[in-house]
Amino acid sequence: MADDKIVLTGIKPTGTPHIGNYIGALKPLVEMSKNHKTFMFIADLHALNTMHDPKEIKQYTYEMAASLIAMGLNLDNAVLFRQSDINEIYQLSNFLMNVTPKGLMNRAHSYKAMVEKNTESGADVDAGVNMGLYTYPVLMAADILLYNSDIVPVGKDQKQHVEFARDIAGYFNNIYGETFKLPEPVIGEESGTIPGLDGRKMSKSYDNTIPLFAPSNELKKKIMRIITDSKTPEESKNPDESTIFQMYKHFANEKEIAEFRKMFLDGGMGYGTAKTILFEKIDSVLTPERTEYERLMANKNEIDAILNTGAERARIVAAKTISKVKKKMLG
Ligand code: TRP
Repeated sequence: MADDKIVLTGIKPTGTPHIGNYIGALKPLVEMSKNHKTFMFIADLHALNTMHDPKEIKQYTYEMAASLIAMGLNLDNAVLFRQSDINEIYQLSNFLMNVTPKGLMNRAHSYKAMVEKNTESGADVDAGVNMGLYTYPVLMAADILLYNSDIVPVGKDQKQHVEFARDIAGYFNNIYGETFKLPEPVIGEESGTIPGLDGRKMSKSYDNTIPLFAPSNELKKKIMRIITDSKTPEESKNPDESTIFQMYKHFANEKEIAEFRKMFLDGGMGYGTAKTILFEKIDSVLTPERTEYERLMANKNEIDAILNTGAERARIVAAKTISKVKKKMLG
């Protein structure tokens, strides 16, 4: 990634951060912040189409922000803020509505999935679809275009939304002349591949997550609940099919990974022992970060101060974009 590129990503605060988020999203973002300027926001407005409890949104926003900060996000390079703190986002989103074809929204995966579900169950096609869900890709395009983003790191499920942002930028540029850069999605390798307790993708909707900063005893309890096959301790086991090994890989160094792999293949290690080894590894890696996370969550004013500073920095760029767009659209 070239150093002068503007990187941007949003994280939806829809649940307590879990180990799947850590490996698939948070850790790569923290890594990236070491060398790249990045706009990184907690997408609380995007949470609104499914979450209607302000307390929950606020809590998860703090948890997400505190996780990133505790993990060592470089706050000089990363502009970390709350999406809803930037008034320009509501403006741009509204402006973009007028160049976005309705048909584009009809093709969005998440909307189509709802329509299919409704059709199967014989309900009205749009049952349960609010305008926030329907226009979700416009808000996301506004996020991306407001900050002149070049690169948007996202999970596989969000690729289409970034492509829509490109399309919308193109429609705007066609009508009003060259205004927006065309952003590019970058899909993380690990996204979607972190198994949860039951072996399916770790996800809140499957109820199979391990909370990232759960206290040690809770972490241990969860890890002990990982579902395994019924091989005896003596039998050789396939590490590549084991959730335990797949998780371990993300926390250990190469030598440790090779040793653990051998223990699986050689036989003689029961799953209980393997889980204990996994727990001890994860716990030792996460304990310093957990301590900082707990400190921040007990001092939310510190998190607010960081988010407010981020918002001030983000607003400078946002205001410029809006004044340009307003001029082009309204003269
Ligand atoms: N829609 C993304 C998700 O559900 C979050 C998000 C909102 C986002 N705005 C964004 C991601 C802009 C990248 C760029 O995960």
